[in-house]
Amino acid sequence: MSELKLQPLSGYNDFPGPVVTIIMDGVGIGPQDDSDGVHMAYTPILDELLKGELVTNLKAHGTAVGLPSDGDMGNSEVGHNALGSGRIFSQGAKLVNEALHSGDLFQGESWREIKKRTDNGGTLHFIGLVSDGNVHSHIEQLNIMLGQCEKEDVQNVRVHGLVDGRDVSPKSGLEYFGPLEEKLKSMSTNGRDYCIASGGGRMTVTMDRYGADWGIVEKGWKAHVLGEGRRFNTACEAIQTFYKEDQAMIDQYMDSFVIERDGEPVGCIEDGDSVILFNFRGDRAIELSQAFEEKDFTAFNRQRHPEVFFAGMMQYDGDAMIPKHYLVEPPAIAGTMGEYLCAAGVTSYAISETQKFGHVTYFWNGNKSGYINEELEKYVEIESDKVTFDLRPWMKASEITDKVIDAIHSNKYKFIRLNYANGDMVGHTGVPISVRIAVETVDLMLKRVLPVLEKAGGVAIITADHGNADCMWTDKKGERTAMVAHTRNPVPFIVKPYFNSNSYSLQHVENAGLASVAATTINLLGYEAPEGYEPSLLKLILPGSR
Ligand code: 3PG
Ligand code: CO
Repeated sequence: MSELKLQPLSGYNDFPGPVVTIIMDGVGIGPQDDSDGVHMAYTPILDELLKGELVTNLKAHGTAVGLPSDGDMGNSEVGHNALGSGRIFSQGAKLVNEALHSGDLFQGESWREIKKRTDNGGTLHFIGLVSDGNVHSHIEQLNIMLGQCEKEDVQNVRVHGLVDGRDVSPKSGLEYFGPLEEKLKSMSTNGRDYCIASGGGRMTVTMDRYGADWGIVEKGWKAHVLGEGRRFNTACEAIQTFYKEDQAMIDQYMDSFVIERDGEPVGCIEDGDSVILFNFRGDRAIELSQAFEEKDFTAFNRQRHPEVFFAGMMQYDGDAMIPKHYLVEPPAIAGTMGEYLCAAGVTSYAISETQKFGHVTYFWNGNKSGYINEELEKYVEIESDKVTFDLRPWMKASEITDKVIDAIHSNKYKFIRLNYANGDMVGHTGVPISVRIAVETVDLMLKRVLPVLEKAGGVAIITADHGNADCMWTDKKGERTAMVAHTRNPVPFIVKPYFNSNSYSLQHVENAGLASVAATTINLLGYEAPEGYEPSLLKLILPGSR
């Protein structure tokens, strides 16, 4: 494809080693106080790197990564989209808002099909994350759809709500479930019957990703579809009971619950019903979609597979077409860096552990699964532990590092990218001692990788996709609350060359964000950045031009 052709960068001299991009997931630049887990960690390597010449900060949240407003924290999906595609695209949250506010969503085929089914007596089930975290979902979007159901006089609506406490504060479930249950009650007039039917904490129930633990999805299936789980009269009663029984309980790890009425589950999913998975982000929505859609499904025993019309808020995997039906078109991301590099014949290697593997492949490649060119690329996944990561904050960083060192030694790859999940996955637990170990682990990994890269004569790009570990708690009137969500802080951007054949200076880019990393990487690989890419952060200094 001719439009994917990269032009050589004039004045560029090749160097022997690879370009290695290290993404320190969730390691932002925080307030530099004792709430800042990055600041509190002992990180001699990072500290030294930050004193270098080719160092700046990048925006990793809000409009800089395609989110609706600068009030939105970044996340790994949009972060890796920007890193890999070099441009800023309107992302799920924004697209869904537009489709809902314009009303286009309700004119679409999927909504019409659902309406047909509800007119025939089928129940409409909404499954998804009930919060305003805006990473996987937003409760306001659910509210607008519920309002439309009322307007169109849909008779039976059931909500299967997942408790967040990960993109919002750890024990905030009642703030969302309370008003939601009230709202559903107030809509239940004129023969309409709307209520919450089941739910549970998002990390225990339904929202697994990358096949890390299908048992989580099975638990969700049992609660939402089969009505199996601990019984309560209301969702608020369930949440309150879990809090009361275990002082340390936080929302994301809550067990599943099933709401009963007259001794029976109030909202099992049956033949003829419709299901809307109202999360817009793909990674944690794909497995449940497969459970609903796949005929020959083997990940767990579904016991019963109801004939339903299933629609995702978006299509979560455009290549595998999961799910088949959806309410809003996903952002079209073509011309990613991976596609350009493959077209230019550049070899590459991508690695992370399960929790972030899709991030350095699928999201990196503009939400496309699989290889772009298997002859030129190698993708490696290290299986993640199945624990809450405060218990093993080192995660699989060493195993990833071993492989990266092998990949550098092999001399086979000109471009290597890797993600250390520690800062983020441990940051989401909000346990300070673990967060510090997580960040220190990443620093130790830099200590291992960089000398190997130096010997090979390559260059390191060290950055992050968004902040998280950089804020471990907030302080309200002397009372500390764990802060488990991502931050809106900028992230470091460090280039460390280990060769003398070219010299570089930083190029000032106004409001520079993650999307500028792609052009910078392409320049370091010896090519001009493609048209339309956000500007490079480096300038190649030509001899005599200084
Ligand atoms: C999660 O899914 O774990 C969080 O909601 C977001 O985390 P990520 O964007 O870092 O994957
Ligand atoms: Co995260």
